[in-house]
Amino acid sequence: MTATVIDGKKIAHALRERLKQEVAELAAHHVQPGLAVILVGEDPASHSYVRGKEKACESLGIYSKVYRLPASVSEAELLHTIHELNESSLIHGILVQLPLPSHISESSILLAISPDKDVDGFHLMNVGKLQTGLPTFLPCTPHGVIQLLQYENIPIEGKHAVIVGRSNIVGKPLAALLLQHNATVTICHSKTVHLKNFTKQADILIAAVGKLRMITADMVKSGAAVIDVGINRVNGRLVGDVDFEEVRHVASAITPVPGGVGPMTIAMLLYNTVEAAKRLES
Ligand code: GUN
Repeated sequence: MTATVIDGKKIAHALRERLKQEVAELAAHHVQPGLAVILVGEDPASHSYVRGKEKACESLGIYSKVYRLPASVSEAELLHTIHELNESSLIHGILVQLPLPSHISESSILLAISPDKDVDGFHLMNVGKLQTGLPTFLPCTPHGVIQLLQYENIPIEGKHAVIVGRSNIVGKPLAALLLQHNATVTICHSKTVHLKNFTKQADILIAAVGKLRMITADMVKSGAAVIDVGINRVNGRLVGDVDFEEVRHVASAITPVPGGVGPMTIAMLLYNTVEAAKRLES
């Protein structure tokens, strides 16, 4: 078997074209969606992600403002910036790029963002809404994964989805979303014993660990759909958590890295920003 390679770039592009039209319609009503991104410290990967978000906003006509703050910034200063953005009529979405330096409490910062502007879906109120099935901003990467599966007509209902990774950003919210779509969900993590016994059962296998090529062909059921959320840097190149060259001969569909989930994460952030503008301005 040779897997269909899921073209995240193409699917994200289609979504962005739709959003571009929505932005134009909002402009006709004198509304321009606005996104504020707060980036603390010098982590090169975070800087690169934020540049990608900034460029994507520009290409759609979304206003964006990036606050690049030194790693020494205090929690109080950061909270002050967030409070100002909560009140700003130009800003509909606020995103604090994670991780934050260890002297800043991530949970305090995320709680300070107005739930109505929480385009990451990380505020506890929105996390709770997702868990209980109420409408809310969906976290961008998990939402992007669901969009990829749906676009490729990969059935979710009744299927066994196995997620490797239990982060608050990907693993846990993705489990909630897959449950909403009536999958049977298993979450595995670094302490899972006999990981392969679980991954081998997956109709949909999602790797979100951040460990280079850890999913090998012997861990994948023949015909499974394999979604690689991993982003690892090797000599300046991006490589996923899945051994793509091996696994593509076992799976029925597979996402590449780069060009799979990554572009969808940004597209879903743009989607949430447009949604936030529509809700706040209606
Ligand atoms: N760091 C890695 N992924 C993300 C994300 O989706 N949102 C934010 N805010 N930070 C991240």
